[in-house]
Amino acid sequence: MTIRALQIDFSQGFDRRWFGGDAFRSAYFNAMSMTFPLGEQSFIDSVKGVDRFIDERIESEAERAQLRAQLTDFSAQEATHRHIHAQYNAVLAKQGFENAVEKRIEKRLERYKTEHPMNLLAATCAYEHYTAILSDVMLKNPAASESMTPMMRRLWLWHALEETEHKAVAFDLYKRLGGHERGRIVAYLLAMVFMQIDAFLQTTNNLRRDGALWKPSTLWGALTFYFGRPSKGNGWIWMTTRPLLAYFKRDFHPHQLGETEPPRAYASEHAQDWRVVRQGSVSAH
Ligand SMILES: [Fe+2]
Ligand SMILES: [Fe+2]
Repeated sequence: MTIRALQIDFSQGFDRRWFGGDAFRSAYFNAMSMTFPLGEQSFIDSVKGVDRFIDERIESEAERAQLRAQLTDFSAQEATHRHIHAQYNAVLAKQGFENAVEKRIEKRLERYKTEHPMNLLAATCAYEHYTAILSDVMLKNPAASESMTPMMRRLWLWHALEETEHKAVAFDLYKRLGGHERGRIVAYLLAMVFMQIDAFLQTTNNLRRDGALWKPSTLWGALTFYFGRPSKGNGWIWMTTRPLLAYFKRDFHPHQLGETEPPRAYASEHAQDWRVVRQGSVSAH
């Protein structure tokens, strides 16, 4: 894992429909961005929350140190993401969009505060699986992000790269600390429901504010996004259903999905997009 500070300047803002002029795609990805500052903070908190179990359940001092080094890198990457997405979201606020999902997430996090730390970690594993799948699609299929403006493409692919790099960190921690299967699956089902509701409500909210909610072109944009042809960067249903279901397998591991090559190639080809803050001491692969 490498900690990278993305070189990006939001002072000039960005187009309202930065994703290929398409209202639906822009609204959907904006909705995702709106969940990140709080969501990614909760991931960081969830790995901190199980810290005492590392001492209690892992005997080898060397293994504990190695694990903690990975967690430090994981948290550093997520902290950079939330920082950049907060700037992104500030532009959205200026454009007149309302971040309603953040309030919902805040309430939910409050409600689950007393949940067992291992279950909160299981929730992080679930969300990390989602982000890994979306990242994998974007890194493997350049057509999926081709119509983004260059600045936004740089941002989403940088995020995708790092999500792919650390996709197994929370999962490995959960397993290593003895997290059980049932907890992993229940958390995933819950996350799936929350994700769909959050994405749907915030995307429609964004579309309403964009004056595009009831336009046929928006519906068409949504239909092609989900059901179009992957070779044209469409059809996200076809590209994500299998890996989404793979999580239910007993022997599932994040490294069974996706490849390590595209991120490495992307990282070396786009090194000018960021400043390397720190070369992480431990690789997730
Ligand atoms: Fe992230
Ligand atoms: Fe992540």
